[in-house]
Amino acid sequence: MPFFLIVLLLSFCAYMPDNIAIAAQKNSCIECHKDLPSGSYTGHKFSDYTGSVHERNGIRCEACHGGDPMSADKTTAHTGVFRSSNPRSSIYFKNLPQMCGKCHGEELVNFSRSRHYAELKTSGRGPSCVTCHGSMGTFILTSDRIREFCTVCHNNQRGILPNVPKEVANVLSMMELTNTLVSWSEEFVTEAQKAKKETSESEKQLAIARNTIKHAKLTWHTFRMEDVTKKINDAYSAAKKARESIR
Ligand code: HEC
Ligand code: HEC
Ligand code: HEC
Ligand code: HEC
Ligand code: HEC
Repeated sequence: MPFFLIVLLLSFCAYMPDNIAIAAQKNSCIECHKDLPSGSYTGHKFSDYTGSVHERNGIRCEACHGGDPMSADKTTAHTGVFRSSNPRSSIYFKNLPQMCGKCHGEELVNFSRSRHYAELKTSGRGPSCVTCHGSMGTFILTSDRIREFCTVCHNNQRGILPNVPKEVANVLSMMELTNTLVSWSEEFVTEAQKAKKETSESEKQLAIARNTIKHAKLTWHTFRMEDVTKKINDAYSAAKKARESIR
């Protein structure tokens, strides 16, 4: 969040009368759903939400499902809330990229350039945001698990690019490795700064590494693996240089 927004929010909260501040926190979806039996599918979804990256960042149920969180009555609260099997629902498979993309616009722009997106919009099949992140964005599919989701279509019987699962698993594990290397280089440079070493070149390389890995992640959503691989390699070299340039 940009700094000026934080300042704005803080000053807003400071002047807000207590009763409004409390009303703003009350959310009927949460109040009611948290008490639903945990064995039911609705209860299960609540436990998914608890502790998720979205909960921690103040994203509430209505941001994804719609509805009226100010109403304690179930029917009124559920206005505009539909099951995932209903094409009118914001969480209907075909509508998911747009829904998640309200907030993750750059991932959506990249994803909408992919062949999968076209496939999703026509046949309603193929990977969507929730395949790799779950509905609450709590996980990111890892290289050792991604294959099982892709071999459904990418296999010899169906003949749709059968080598793809192996290739993408390799690219993803390179991305994971590079992520780790960038973090290590960050620590290295911080230590070197503390020790008053010359780090200007390292800082420059580190900035390149961070920026390039960020773009590699966005590009991943286009499924153009050559483009992703190139960015990962560039990020890797920059992170390596960042460590080597410490004098
Ligand atoms: C007073 C209790 C209550 C409130 C308030 C409430 N829900 Fe529900 N919700 C339920 C129950 C119970 C179900 C299970 C299905 C049913 O009985 O309609 C449910 C089902 C759902 C479903 C599954 C779809 C469906 O129709 O079965 C979603 C999604 C949902 N609620 C989201 C929300 C959101 C978002 C809000 C707030 C804007 C909200 N709920 C507010 C009790 C509530
Ligand atoms: C970041 C977006 C997001 C948030 C926040 C979120 N959900 Fe969901 N929820 C989804 C998605 C997407 C699905 C569909 C799951 C799928 O297809 O994998 C879903 C599924 C559900 C379902 C099952 C409905 C069905 O028809 O399959 C219920 C019930 C539900 N959510 C309730 C809630 C409640 C209650 C909250 C708040 C405590 C909440 N959700 C917060 C995105 C969200
Ligand atoms: C109302 C806004 C909003 C919606 C809608 C939303 N998100 Fe998020 N999401 C956020 C915020 C805010 C964060 C935490 C800050 C960040 O990392 O960008 C986040 C974080 C994430 C992360 C983790 C990023 C990280 O840095 O670890 C993933 C993955 C994610 N969301 C996926 C999804 C998916 C998939 C959907 C749709 C089912 C979705 N989001 C819908 C706002 C939203
Ligand atoms: C085939 C799997 C796949 C699909 C489909 C997918 N993603 Fe991702 N997403 C990833 C991977 C892999 C990363 C990079 C994770 C990492 O290493 O941090 C990522 C990163 C992200 C991040 C940033 C996390 C971070 O650490 O910066 C967000 C937000 C996100 N995706 C949202 C979405 C949204 C929204 C959609 C749908 C429009 C989507 N993703 C579709 C695999 C996928
Ligand atoms: C429902 C079927 C389906 C599933 C599941 C599926 N794909 Fe695909 N994929 C396709 C189709 C169809 C194409 C286009 C093939 C063509 O153009 O010959 C494609 C193409 C691709 C391409 C090549 C894209 C390009 O532009 O060169 C990649 C990479 C890919 N998929 C990755 C994945 C990954 C990763 C997963 C698992 C997370 C996955 N696919 C799951 C159907 C699927």
